[in-house]
Formats: sequence, C-alpha cells, structure tokens
Amino acid sequence: MKNTLLVLSTLGCIIWSCSPKTAPTSSQTKPATEQAPDNSIPVSVDMASAEKTYRSVCSGCHELYPTTNYTAAEWGGIVNRMQKKANFSNSDKNLIMAFLSANAKK
Ligand code: HEC
Repeated sequence: MKNTLLVLSTLGCIIWSCSPKTAPTSSQTKPATEQAPDNSIPVSVDMASAEKTYRSVCSGCHELYPTTNYTAAEWGGIVNRMQKKANFSNSDKNLIMAFLSANAKK
C-alpha cells in the first residue's frame, strides 16, 4: 500500500509538474533597446530637466524644500497634494517625483 502511494505520487509528479518545458524555438535575438515606450513610467529620466521642473514648478508658492526632508514615499503624498493646489501636469509630476525620489531621505 505504501509503495502504491509512492508510485502514484511519483507518477503525479511526472505527469503534472515535471513535464518538460517547451523551449523557445525562435533563434532571433532582439536588438537591445534602451528606450522605454512613451506611455510607460519613465525608467530613466533626464535628471537635469527633472530638477529644472522641480525648481520652477515647486518654487511658485513657497521656498523649495530640501529633497532630503522626506522619503520618496512621503514625497509622493506631498506632490499629490501640491498638484491639487497647483494643477501641474502629470508628466511634470512624473519628472518631479523622479527627481525627488532619486534625492530623497533614505
Ligand atoms: C499653488 C501653490 C503651491 C505650489 C505650486 C506648490 N506648493 Fe507646496 N505648499 C503650498 C502650501 C499653501 C503649503 C502649506 C501647507 C498646505 O497647505 O498643505 C505647501 C506646503 C508644502 C510642503 C510642506 C510640508 C507639508 O506637508 O505641508 C512641502 C514639502 C511642499 N509644499 C512641497 C511642494 C512641492 C514638492 C511642490 C512641487 C511639486 C510644491 N510644494 C508646489 C502651496 C504650493
């Protein structure tokens, strides 16, 4: 009886989970593209223009706050709140957040 169970479970493994993976047949290698698609959150941003956006958008109503005052998560909440007051675009927000989180409190 014990043996039968063992055989059954071994068989089960072979049938259900140990089936060979089908290897990808395509031999084509895609050219490595560094650029992210336009509609995605930017993977790499131009930090200089991100900082410029932060400086121009966020100095409109008060002094610029040091980026290290807050963690990236805290900046996320603050920038969302500021966007309600100031109505800057989402693409500006993305740039600003990229700059802030890269330089935020760790
Ligand atoms: C339309 C005016 C306006 C703009 C533009 C603005 N802020 Fe503010 N901000 C305020 C006001 C008013 C306060 C005072 C606190 C409040 O009302 O929330 C404030 C407070 C803050 C504080 C203090 C902390 C806190 O939680 O209140 C931080 C940090 C801050 N802003 C960051 C930013 C950043 C980053 C930007 C750019 C994305 C920005 N602000 C753009 C109006 C603005």
